[in-house]
Amino acid sequence: MGYEVLEILKKRRSVRKFKEEKLDKEVINKVLRAGLLSPSSKNKKPVEFIVVDDKETLLKLKECKSKGADALNTASCAIVVIADSQLSDVWIEDASIATILLQLAAEDLGLGSVWIQMRNRQSNLGCSEEQVRKVLNIPEKYGVLSIVAIGYKDESTKPYDESSLDFSKVHYDNYL
Ligand SMILES: Cc1cc2nc3c(=O)[nH]c(=O)nc-3n(C[C@H](O)[C@H](O)[C@H](O)COP(=O)(O)O)c2cc1C
Repeated sequence: MGYEVLEILKKRRSVRKFKEEKLDKEVINKVLRAGLLSPSSKNKKPVEFIVVDDKETLLKLKECKSKGADALNTASCAIVVIADSQLSDVWIEDASIATILLQLAAEDLGLGSVWIQMRNRQSNLGCSEEQVRKVLNIPEKYGVLSIVAIGYKDESTKPYDESSLDFSKVHYDNYL
């Protein structure tokens, strides 16, 4: 792995508080390009993205999850990661890869982001995925994996360093 990729991986931390500053369309497009370059099983490309920057809609999305969605209070933009569950039996994996690539691209552009999980999560009104589908008019066959909240960082985060790397998680030849 190249040095630069490792540096981005170390710097990327979840950011949940953002400045008011809007994001240029061009910047958002750069982030989206990373998502669109995601690999997918059998190259089926089931993943799609919904970009939201309207404040009212961002707050509606926040209400789709009872906990862990506070970043949407200040996010300048959210990218909702959905995938066609009829097109791929491993849409969750495909959408997860796309989600992290969006985050890494955001970090590389000096932006902050956080992965807000929607699949298997609940709001006060019920299933988070269902709520997001309603808010954004997403057809039923799409799974809603995550929402990536993005913006200029308004909190400082500590990058990972070499001491964060737990090599006891790595096994060679067999588990023992
Ligand atoms: C699958 C997944 C789901 C997550 N869901 C949420 C979430 O709903 N809300 C949130 O604020 N953070 C969420 N996170 C961010 C994690 O809490 C965070 O990545 C973890 O605590 C490690 O911190 P770091 O991102 O700064 O390295 C999620 C991360 C992953 C990978």
